[in-house]
Amino acid sequence: MKNKTDGQKDLSKKDGMTRREMLKMSAVAGTGIAIGATGLGGILSVVDQVDKVFDKEMAQADEGVPFYGKTQAGIITEQQTYCYLASFDLETESKADVIALFKKWTKFADLTASGGALSDADNDMLPPSDTGEADGLGTGNLTVTIGYGASFFMKNGRDRFGVNAKRPKHLVTVPHMAHDSLDAAYSDGDLCMQVCADDQQVAFHGVRNFIRLATGVATVRWLEEGFIRSPEGETPRNLFGFKDGTANVDHASKQGFADVVWAAADEPAWMKNGSYLGYRKIQMLLEVWDRSSLMDQEDTFGRHKHSGAPYGKKKEHDKVNPAKLPTDAHVRLAKDTKQQMHRRAYSYTSGVDAKTGRLEAGLLFICFTQNPETQYLPMLHVMGKMDKLNEYTIPIGNALFACQGGIQAGEYFGQALLQ
Ligand code: HEM
Repeated sequence: MKNKTDGQKDLSKKDGMTRREMLKMSAVAGTGIAIGATGLGGILSVVDQVDKVFDKEMAQADEGVPFYGKTQAGIITEQQTYCYLASFDLETESKADVIALFKKWTKFADLTASGGALSDADNDMLPPSDTGEADGLGTGNLTVTIGYGASFFMKNGRDRFGVNAKRPKHLVTVPHMAHDSLDAAYSDGDLCMQVCADDQQVAFHGVRNFIRLATGVATVRWLEEGFIRSPEGETPRNLFGFKDGTANVDHASKQGFADVVWAAADEPAWMKNGSYLGYRKIQMLLEVWDRSSLMDQEDTFGRHKHSGAPYGKKKEHDKVNPAKLPTDAHVRLAKDTKQQMHRRAYSYTSGVDAKTGRLEAGLLFICFTQNPETQYLPMLHVMGKMDKLNEYTIPIGNALFACQGGIQAGEYFGQALLQ
């Protein structure tokens, strides 16, 4: 999907000079022959023409990632560079309020994914409809993914919107895991909105306006901001410098996604082509890690740092032989559960701990599964108890959300659930 960006990249740098610059130079050279007739004004007008043609070309190449579709974008979409993950609590007990919010959110999600903005009310006495900072920046391949937490269905023993009968089968409470040090301020929530894009300003504009549109109906419980980038076509590296997401290729096929990611047939109808988003905010103790030997670092995962190859093999995507990995290596523990998941994690940084001077940084671990009870929780249990990675990490936030199937044109978020 996201290889739609390739068109944009072709239009930018070529051997140190952008195509826009090259076109301008050759156009100006051509004009120069007739300089006597046109003068400087003529040259400037040619430059202006080239800019216009180029902007049009860029706009045509920037189709973005469609918002409407069979499945929600942002789940198996090729990972963008930036991510905002927002969790909301609904402040209303009225289903009509929730529907009104979801209608506004849907309209905005479609607009922002196609590079548009809310149209201005043209009333000087009112705030502008759109905050404006993404004006002209294009789509940035923005995706919006909505998820529903257990508290959307039942809160304080109440079926608040009368939809608990349609609760997804595996939207369970994630039990406390050994080694967890969870903070409620980073955990749970009635709803989540994952906004990803290749342009941070575009992504922020998206999440900011979802928050703004929710005023009076939902408040932000927590908001996380992540980034991850890799050379074209390569697996990105996390802040420990290891390739993160390698095993995703194992299920990167239609059938693979059907088996690993998309909800099973026995789920409520609105979850058809949906998934579950498992989330952990995991602090990474960078200073401790940076003092550990390369051997210790590689033993932690059972993979080589530079190549990403599993122990006993040469290349990143060579088949893992768990028996060759240390018994407490992260990858071995995951493999031994014989389960798969689709991981889409982002790194985060948030300054320095004022007391210790330690860097505040880590991983916004995000995974999508068909059934978190079988694919995800057993892994969390075993990792919490045995993972060598625990020497360097502390889970501080946790949430589980059910992500509905794709939204069709004319429909709004949650329509099949709330109707
Ligand atoms: C800060 C925390 C974490 C870090 C730094 C981390 C890093 C890594 C790395 C470097 C790999 C090897 C390359 C790859 O296949 O992507 C890996 C694999 C994997 N991780 Fe994590 N991970 C973290 C947390 C978690 C958590 C919480 C889970 C789920 C409970 C998890 C599940 C997996 C799985 C399923 C694999 C693939 C194993 C395989 O089949 O080869 N990871 N992780």
